[in-house]
Amino acid sequence: MKDYKNVTVLDHPLIRHKIAILRDKNTGMKQFRELVEEITTLITFESFKEVPTKTVTVSTPLADCEQQMVVEGSVAIVPILRAGLGMVSGVHALFPTAKVGHIGMYRDEETLEPKEYYCKLPEGIENMQTILLDPMLATGGSACDAINLLKKRGCKSIKLMNIIGAPEGVKRVAKAHPDVNIYLSTLDECLNENGYILPGLGDAGDRLFGTK
Ligand code: PRP
Ligand code: URA
Repeated sequence: MKDYKNVTVLDHPLIRHKIAILRDKNTGMKQFRELVEEITTLITFESFKEVPTKTVTVSTPLADCEQQMVVEGSVAIVPILRAGLGMVSGVHALFPTAKVGHIGMYRDEETLEPKEYYCKLPEGIENMQTILLDPMLATGGSACDAINLLKKRGCKSIKLMNIIGAPEGVKRVAKAHPDVNIYLSTLDECLNENGYILPGLGDAGDRLFGTK
């Protein structure tokens, strides 16, 4: 992904360890959910180096000093339903006051085209740093449509956070939206004939919510 300046693959050994457990078909729903949350927090830490801060004066037991604190209300998180929901608490661990919007989308199993079925975004989102969450970036169709929707609502600062991406989908989003920074923890090999990421982890929504 060297050709795409807006793509960051974290590829950290501690994240790799967690991803190995996440992929394992024997990992159960509870541990899967906890790992998605933990990995999301680690990606959040890396991807929010430029979050808006303000200077405040703090009195320690010994002296007053000027410190930096995150500006409240400056960040909105938007999970793509369903699987993105599993990442919300991972971002909230670092940004407890971030507002949450929801975009409902599912992939048509035949065409792999995303179908939007729900959208509710926080008031004033156009002035916030918006982070779109989805553990899986496969063909990139869902992410592209969700970004277009956010842009139509006036969002100017958008990041996309994924746990696993396929090269096809990452390139598609990076090309279509060069102004959106994409952060993913792992870049996988390819998509299979059904649009699933290989080696991947299977269906993220089903594994998070125990639906299969
Ligand atoms: C999965 C995943 C993404 C999408 C990725 O959701 O969570 O939203 O597929 O695929 P794409 O990059 O090819 O668009 P799915 O459509 O299975 O819906 P679900 O979360 O409700 O199960
Ligand atoms: N959605 C998933 O949950 N997994 C994939 O591998 C592709 C799309």
